[in-house]
Amino acid sequence: MTEPRSARGQRTLAGEYFTSEEIFRREQERIFARRWLCAGHVSELGQPGSYLLFELGAESLIVLRDESGGVRSLHNVCRHRGSRLCLEPAGELGRAIRCPYHAWTYALDGTLRAAPNMAEVAGFERADHPLRSAPVTLWEGLLFVHLGAAPEPFARELAALGGRVEPWRIGELTRVQRTTYEVEANWKLFFHNYSECYHCPTVHPHLNQLTPYRNTRNDLAEGGVLGGPMWMTHPDGSMTIGGERCAPLLPGLGEADRGHVRYYTVFPSMFLSLHPDYVLVHRAQPLGPTRTRIHCDWLFHRDALAAPGFDPAPAIEFWDLTNRQDWELCANAQRGVASRAYVPGPYAELESQLAAFDREYLAAMDGEPAAAARPAG
Ligand code: FES
Ligand SMILES: [Fe+2]
Repeated sequence: MTEPRSARGQRTLAGEYFTSEEIFRREQERIFARRWLCAGHVSELGQPGSYLLFELGAESLIVLRDESGGVRSLHNVCRHRGSRLCLEPAGELGRAIRCPYHAWTYALDGTLRAAPNMAEVAGFERADHPLRSAPVTLWEGLLFVHLGAAPEPFARELAALGGRVEPWRIGELTRVQRTTYEVEANWKLFFHNYSECYHCPTVHPHLNQLTPYRNTRNDLAEGGVLGGPMWMTHPDGSMTIGGERCAPLLPGLGEADRGHVRYYTVFPSMFLSLHPDYVLVHRAQPLGPTRTRIHCDWLFHRDALAAPGFDPAPAIEFWDLTNRQDWELCANAQRGVASRAYVPGPYAELESQLAAFDREYLAAMDGEPAAAARPAG
């Protein structure tokens, strides 16, 4: 089940890539302002007025369900004196967004509806001050936003995912759990850690029993989306505390989709773990060169949720345990790469995906400065 893979003789990145404020700032411009970034799952948005915030560095977007039932993304910046409009990470706006400072009030499409006492200002027109919008797209139930002015079409940027993910019908799933972690480690260390199972026999004995670490094949080995399947010891199993599925096989999956998990990294913000009975989404939110927030969501099919006795705990416990083991590794690695004694080390062939991630990363960092990291609209 394995096939030759190669790290092409590459070595790990220099220490400054994990510690430098300057490189972190450049990453914001050249990577995070130029790529589509996962903001969450559509099941988080219910009726019109329901919203979630997407936050990254100085930027904050209100991703909401508008009056027509569509999804929109608006910069969370008042057109009066710039105040944040929404302060909670998610909630219900009703029919309007009201600034907490001087009560300028916007419709769900961003139009300025009311601006108290501004009629006495010569030349003031409400129509000149809508909230600025940001590109947003819904793909397989996942919300993606863009902070830049001239995004590549989503389909082109993430073309590699097309056709691989559809059978999981992620749009029919519902988030049943979110756990958010904050770890003292650079965001790239999480991508590195997720992209190999070289560490599994040492650190995840339980996971390694369910999916022996060499039972993998990378069907995407170059570009912005990397990963592939990992086969389970038990063809009817899943990644849970007991090793058994905790929900029926997802309805879009067939015989060939049993017995393995598919793991993909989506540069630069997401890991997608496709199980036979549920989907796990990790999103990385870099807070600084040495600190990252990770949001981990467990998504199950709505039919499974409705079934008597449904219990997602074995899946939640399994990945919470695995996450915590991994985050400790990332934090330890961060301490080491920050040392003056650290020099880049050789990647194992089992780490071919880390080498591919680094190639993608370095190419993105070498690119010309973004046309503008300014908001569109
Ligand atoms: S800053 Fe929003 S109304 Fe004044
Ligand atoms: Fe791990």
